[in-house]
Amino acid sequence: SAVLVVHGPNLNLLGRREPEVYGADTLADINARLARLAARNDVDLETFQSNAEHELVERIQATADDGTDWILINPAAFTHTSVAIRDALAAVALPFIEIHLSNPHRREPFRHRSHFSDLAEGVVAGLGADSYLLALQAVINKINASG
Ligand code: DQA
Repeated sequence: SAVLVVHGPNLNLLGRREPEVYGADTLADINARLARLAARNDVDLETFQSNAEHELVERIQATADDGTDWILINPAAFTHTSVAIRDALAAVALPFIEIHLSNPHRREPFRHRSHFSDLAEGVVAGLGADSYLLALQAVINKINASG
């Protein structure tokens, strides 16, 4: 099975960016931990980061015929603004899990609304890098359960 992990804007700065909010792990650290968990479970994992909305839309569109089975996505600030990325996920109709390092619900009111949560299979938030790893473990469990 193939899982695509999509990281939205400013997540390339992880480790340096507001570490009290987002933690000390870099994006490379998180991707390496995800890659190890995937490899142990025979899952093909690809990670993709962009600061540009259209690049995120285009990568999601490409999952329609590149063999992707699941998407894990941290839309970052686009969580709260992007109808276009939401529509791309709806168009490809693959199951996805919404991920956040922080818990948006304990932050500013403008972070309380997500354009993704009502389409997502699940949402994992507030657990730092573990949010990603727990989401990937959940997908692995679902893949194994479906044979
Ligand atoms: C975030 C939360 C968003 O509100 C914020 O804009 C981000 C990161 C998180 O992972 O906690 O960039 O998605």
